[in-house]
Amino acid sequence: MKAKIAIDGPAGAGKSTVARAVAKELGLAYLDTGAMYRAITLAALRAGVDFNDSRALADLTESVELDIQIGSDGENIIFLNGENVSEEIREPEINSNVSYVARCPEVREIMVSKQQEIGRRGGVVMDGRDIGTKVMPEAEFKFFLTASLEERARRRLAELKAKGINLTLPQMIEEIRTRDKIDSERECSPLQAARDAIYLDTTEMTIEQVVKYIVDIVVDSK
Ligand code: DC
Repeated sequence: MKAKIAIDGPAGAGKSTVARAVAKELGLAYLDTGAMYRAITLAALRAGVDFNDSRALADLTESVELDIQIGSDGENIIFLNGENVSEEIREPEINSNVSYVARCPEVREIMVSKQQEIGRRGGVVMDGRDIGTKVMPEAEFKFFLTASLEERARRRLAELKAKGINLTLPQMIEEIRTRDKIDSERECSPLQAARDAIYLDTTEMTIEQVVKYIVDIVVDSK
């Protein structure tokens, strides 16, 4: 199947888990575009680059080698200059800084062109913030997943807790609120549902229900 499926939405809406499961069920590749911005954020933190210096961020983005491989369970394995950083890019320090890097237009231009190159081949489920609007506006299937702020914070908290990182719910709510604000208000490709996207509030839904909902729509369209 050469379908292109775009899944956008705010932090903690369950996009990555859902997108990966949908890809697995339909035999498609999965690309986690947020992981790409996270890897650049890690590189910037390591290099001590000022997040307000667009030129320095762009130079850094051009100079690093970013490689994405698909793991045995369909997950994305992210290599930064040959080093597997898949775990490190999920740490709280990256969570709280990634929006500042992702709002840089020069960084986005480089990332979007890499993502479009992958999208052109088709047979892919991509998740992010601007997939349906900018990266693959031609995708036949576009979904915008959301959930209440509190529910999204709870989901992120559970993910971090499983890794032994303990934050409080109010801390998590505040962090997600800040990220939502920066992601939605930035000038370049802000978080936005495409006009032709199917909007899905997953607050009361399980991951399995969301996956089934999407897979059924794709399969029924054949
Ligand atoms: O989905 P995530 O939490 O891994 O995304 C990390 C950050 O990257 C998030 O703050 C928004 C940004 N992002 C983006 O601007 N565009 C994308 N296509 C994907 C993520």
